[in-house]
Amino acid sequence: MFRNAAAISLQLMGPLQRKKAGTSVTRCWHQTLTMAKRVQARRLDGIDHNPWVEFVKMASECDAVNLGQGFPDFPPPDFAVEAFQHALSSDFMLNQYTRAFGYPPLTKILASFFGKLLGQEIDPFKNVLVTVGAYGALFTAFQALVEEGDEVIIIEPFFDCYEPMTLMAGGHPVFVTLKPGLTRDGELDSSSDWQLDPTELASKFTSHTKALILNTPNNPVGKVFSKAELELVASLCQQHDVICIADEVYQWLVYDGYQHVSIASLPGMWERTLTIGSAGKTFSATGWKVGWVLGPDSLMKHLRTVHQNSIYHCPTQGQAAVAQSFEHEQLHFGQASSYFARFPQAMQRTRDHMIRSLQSVGLKPVVSQGSYFFMADISDFKSKMPDLPGDVDEPYDRRFVKWMIKTKGLVAIPVSTFYSVPHRKIFDHYIRFCFVKDESTLQAMDEKLQKWKKELRP
Ligand SMILES: Cc1ncc(COP(=O)(O)O)c(C=O)c1O
Repeated sequence: MFRNAAAISLQLMGPLQRKKAGTSVTRCWHQTLTMAKRVQARRLDGIDHNPWVEFVKMASECDAVNLGQGFPDFPPPDFAVEAFQHALSSDFMLNQYTRAFGYPPLTKILASFFGKLLGQEIDPFKNVLVTVGAYGALFTAFQALVEEGDEVIIIEPFFDCYEPMTLMAGGHPVFVTLKPGLTRDGELDSSSDWQLDPTELASKFTSHTKALILNTPNNPVGKVFSKAELELVASLCQQHDVICIADEVYQWLVYDGYQHVSIASLPGMWERTLTIGSAGKTFSATGWKVGWVLGPDSLMKHLRTVHQNSIYHCPTQGQAAVAQSFEHEQLHFGQASSYFARFPQAMQRTRDHMIRSLQSVGLKPVVSQGSYFFMADISDFKSKMPDLPGDVDEPYDRRFVKWMIKTKGLVAIPVSTFYSVPHRKIFDHYIRFCFVKDESTLQAMDEKLQKWKKELRP
């Protein structure tokens, strides 16, 4: 289990590398390839800098508690672990390729499980595609549907891969920003206050708009879009003949009685929506990398073309484990014993613990309605210590996170990373925390925060 970022980078290595890292330094000299021709494809222009690399590296160099990256640092539920063990040791044919578009028992259970939720008759062979995580689902969807000159509407702040995926497909990202609500004295802000301006949203649709990507519950704000908000998005998509890519990987992680609504369940939306899910987020097993897309055959057939010419088969055993986990969950679904009911209850408690603790040093959390994350407002720090080290052009939240890692031993992610370049400086007073963490991580965080609190005393 990971305690801190240093442990993570060791965890990310294989056993041999781990041994080496602990005992000796290995030197290698690589020759850099120089070519008369341009090396990298033009589609990579402007997207080759990944901000995460820097923060993960920094965190691993300090003894810091990692509250940044979005993964659980506790085991998946027993039934899911047993399902994986069973997949490894039962039918030896699970070591071989399976059906290219998804292991049939998995596509069947996904079709029946989500068919009921979406109010659709879902064909396991035509309306379901299994992918390498939700990342794979997104990439396949963008490659299949977006082409040169197409506009894709992206709601900011957004899961950071949407923009490069649009660009790599030749598309043009068009951003519309969620507006934070007014802060009420003595009350914490909520992700429900972050709203779309209907007029501004409508103004983003043009004759070139091909798709809109909707992420609910949203990463990083934790906003769960209300039915009324989804109806607005749905009516604009229908009016302008636009496809909706619905990233719903956190659909089971909803708190405080809020309800997740799938946009594909609204009238007239199934035909134009791709609904994306992730077993990693569903069963707290992000390393399994099993994801899926559900949608009408008229769209799915194009995703299948991309899939069969790129990934073709996803690992069979992981798919078998996910199928069995869903079969288990189906027996409990709707009851108190359901993992989809118990898990969010437990995560709401860790969210509340973290929110209380972070407030003690003057951070101002924005209470999230869903997802693995919440953001915290750091405006007070920005006015009290505006001159943190770093490049003048560097957004404040990035400088703040570096300072927090180095001097306070806590890792978070700067929220400006989740905005388009022109908007980064406007939203550089938030940082994102992941609260899907084990008791021991919360304890380690509290120890760091107590030290920080003592330093605040005059
Ligand atoms: C909004 C969102 N979509 C998709 C993904 C990718 O999911 P997976 O790990 O299944 O590829 C993530 C992972 O962080 C995410 O936050």
